[in-house]
Amino acid sequence: MEDLLRSWDGEHVVVRYDQAAKAWIFIAIHSTRLGNASGGTRMKIYEAPRDGLQDALRLAEGMTYKWAGVDFPMGGGKAVIALSAPLADVERDRLLERYGELVETLGGTFSTGADLGVGPELVQVIGRETTHVFGVRGAGDPGPWTALGVFSAIEAVAEELYGSRDLKGRTVLVQGIGDVGIPLCKRLAGTGARLKIADVNEERAAAVAEELGAQAVDVGKTYAEPCDIFAPCAVGGVLNVDTIPQLRCRAVAGSANNQLERIEDADRLHERRILYAPDFIANAGGAVALCGLEALRMSEDYVAAKVLSITDTLKTIFAEAKAREESPYHAAMRWARKVLERGPA
Ligand code: PHE
Repeated sequence: MEDLLRSWDGEHVVVRYDQAAKAWIFIAIHSTRLGNASGGTRMKIYEAPRDGLQDALRLAEGMTYKWAGVDFPMGGGKAVIALSAPLADVERDRLLERYGELVETLGGTFSTGADLGVGPELVQVIGRETTHVFGVRGAGDPGPWTALGVFSAIEAVAEELYGSRDLKGRTVLVQGIGDVGIPLCKRLAGTGARLKIADVNEERAAAVAEELGAQAVDVGKTYAEPCDIFAPCAVGGVLNVDTIPQLRCRAVAGSANNQLERIEDADRLHERRILYAPDFIANAGGAVALCGLEALRMSEDYVAAKVLSITDTLKTIFAEAKAREESPYHAAMRWARKVLERGPA
């Protein structure tokens, strides 16, 4: 863990070992340059606590750029609850309550909400012990908002590739049928796009495929599955030295955080002429809705317009990347860094 912390450029990490649940809690505060840190809480089983810390550090950094990308007065942070074994529901809820107490002691310097493994219902459990939680005062489930943003990103990609946002007849492969994947698939199904879905839970994928008239693909062959647009909506690190050569798509636009395993993977995609919608721009819809509705007092219409504007943001980023013959990732990072340098609006 020392190496991870030594090479991290963030501000600090709050660490707690929860004896009763045998779980490590890491709250990483990457940057408060634009405001108090905020980011979701991820809970899953990790092989080693170190892996949980690594996730927290990287995800917190991603949040810094996500908030900067939408120019919200929020800082980058993220929490990871690294479980060592599955927990019964009661123990899990007790753990989340104790975690809520910990968040409360931070006095609002970190606020949190849903993420992988902590769905909208579990956010309510955290909210029993702290007010610094998004998703309990009106915004509710951020999943459909994130999906709307990813849909906007897919439209930007289509416009860039084909000169039209129309998705009719285009094949979109959605990886991960969760709180974002499902609403995204539903939206896509309404456009006449051909839908393919892949999920580690193949039974679930088959059921959802049946319901939406989609094709469930063999998870083991996800990356090699031919499609026009690949939408990773599950775990991170899916774009890497092993998977990129397999891809048979023209673009990647999805909701997963930290899709690139390493920064060089952006260049690998670029070399393969696969258009990449940077994750922290494409997946900002949930963050915009949660924070916009519950902290910044924006109206639902305003939030919706802001989420839909992901299309225009990406068009600008794609144009800049094209002019410089580089991956859109670099253009998006320059955009976010400019906002961070300027400071809160
Ligand atoms: N975890 C989601 C994200 O990465 C939603 C979220 C955003 C939750 C901000 C809390 C705070 O965008």
